[in-house]
Amino acid sequence: MEFEKIVVKILKNVIVDLSEKEINDLIEIPSNPEMGDFAFPCFKLAKIFRKAPNMIASEVGEKIGPSEYFSNIKIIGAYINFYVNKKKYVESVLTNQKLDEKLDIGKGKTIVLDYSSPNIAKPFHIGHLRTTIIGNALYNIHDHLGYKCVGINHLGDWGTQFGKLIVAYKLWGSKEEIEKNGINELTKIYVKFHEEAENKPELDDEARAWFTKMENGDKEALDLWQWFKDISLKEFNRIYKMLDINFDSFAGESFYNDKMDAIIKELENKGLIEISEGAKIVDLEEDKMPPCLITKKDGSTLYATRDITAAIYRKKTYDFEKCIYVTALDQNLHFAQWFKVIDKMGYEWHDKLIHVPYGLVSMESGKLSTRKGKVIYLEELLNESIEKTKKIIEDKNPDLDDKENVAKTVGIGAILFNDLYNNRIKDVVFSWDKVLNFEGETGPYVQYTYARASSVLRKANYSNSDEKVDYELLTDDLAFNVVKTLQRFQGVVADAAEKLEPSFVSRYVVDLAQAFNRFYHNCPIITDDKDLRDARLSLVSEVRVIIKKALKLLGIKAPEQM
Ligand code: ARG
Repeated sequence: MEFEKIVVKILKNVIVDLSEKEINDLIEIPSNPEMGDFAFPCFKLAKIFRKAPNMIASEVGEKIGPSEYFSNIKIIGAYINFYVNKKKYVESVLTNQKLDEKLDIGKGKTIVLDYSSPNIAKPFHIGHLRTTIIGNALYNIHDHLGYKCVGINHLGDWGTQFGKLIVAYKLWGSKEEIEKNGINELTKIYVKFHEEAENKPELDDEARAWFTKMENGDKEALDLWQWFKDISLKEFNRIYKMLDINFDSFAGESFYNDKMDAIIKELENKGLIEISEGAKIVDLEEDKMPPCLITKKDGSTLYATRDITAAIYRKKTYDFEKCIYVTALDQNLHFAQWFKVIDKMGYEWHDKLIHVPYGLVSMESGKLSTRKGKVIYLEELLNESIEKTKKIIEDKNPDLDDKENVAKTVGIGAILFNDLYNNRIKDVVFSWDKVLNFEGETGPYVQYTYARASSVLRKANYSNSDEKVDYELLTDDLAFNVVKTLQRFQGVVADAAEKLEPSFVSRYVVDLAQAFNRFYHNCPIITDDKDLRDARLSLVSEVRVIIKKALKLLGIKAPEQM
């Protein structure tokens, strides 16, 4: 049985007024080992028992008899502190099948995740990296907890901008150039459109007319649009492949074309639509927000119209427990507005729509070589990282086999880890020195630790089925600290899901790597003492499993050597 549950049972026997759940919620894990391994604070009991907390602690504490699972149970002030029997604790952790297994917290429930969702015909830049990998990590984390996950790439593939692109193409586009240079060429003519339209406003009218044609199903318009989309997807898929990221659905904005009319009618029937200068809006003044625009005066639909329609469609299709949207912080208002519209429509599930915003990425000035300066193209960044990593590896380990692949795994992993290391809401300053530091709190550091653990096990010819371990041999401070860190893993993943914060997992895996490295440097593993060696190897093996699992949740691979 898990130790925390034992603590609950012991306390429940002597505090009958609280439920097991209430007791469990009060239990703390002291950060100072001198205060024991679990602590039960009695402050909250003061109201129930009408006594001072430390009085309660000593009265309750006196009733607790000795237990084989604890070497000591001590009253310190208002706390009851539990000191585990280390040998039993180590054994319970290292023989626990559930240490890294999928959980069933989310069984029978579905989570929809809307992430990445780039706009077609625009370059995939470093901002999109964040939504892509935060979304992917949240997907993996929920999957680990037993939820059924549906990952949707809500492509930005509809809107007036495609009317502009069609006009630009007809005026200045070249089929060959676009086939050759893809999104770059599309961006070029799109930028030209904006420059020219400054002096020729009739271009904007033409663009609007083309978008209306698209919305009315005009074949020429749709063929061109489809071509732009194919070209864009080819490039996006190349990046998803590099990152090893998949989606369950690519139903983008255009998917909702034939579904919006019904929703606009529904809004009208529910008395929510007002006409303002020819446009249809939902007034949100009483909610202290600007109105949500549903159609423009020419009848064309908007980003929010498609999001409202998509949410209703998703609820019907997937009956989600939560529908999560991962985007940059600057879309806060957009989501707040249309979530409110869903609420006003009378859908009680409006509170299951969750916006997960994240901060910006900026570059440490002058350090990143890009062609255009402003926009950082993701593919270039990843390739640059792989190249730099290769140089480092060649230097550190010239005899390594398969340097190419290791450089890919580590180079890409480094960028992802850097992005997932801080609270998502914080801005990230990108600096190569930090990202590729093999000794810092980085991807390469964790991957290196993993490779080190793998190499020790290889050298020792370790196989999991090895003989019985004397767990007493893992009760020294350094080994015990590793065991305690291993034990935290599942709880960390559950917290990461609750707070929608992948950084909990990345911080955890750094903690684990650090605890392991302290142990590794001070406790020789392949020693002549066979019992000691077996015990230490079994710990190394478990660390290896959990590092790999944690990295996997973050979307990062673990190299066997580097
Ligand atoms: N395409 C949008 C952008 O690049 C992000 C879409 C996010 N998802 C959504 N359902 N609105 O900014």
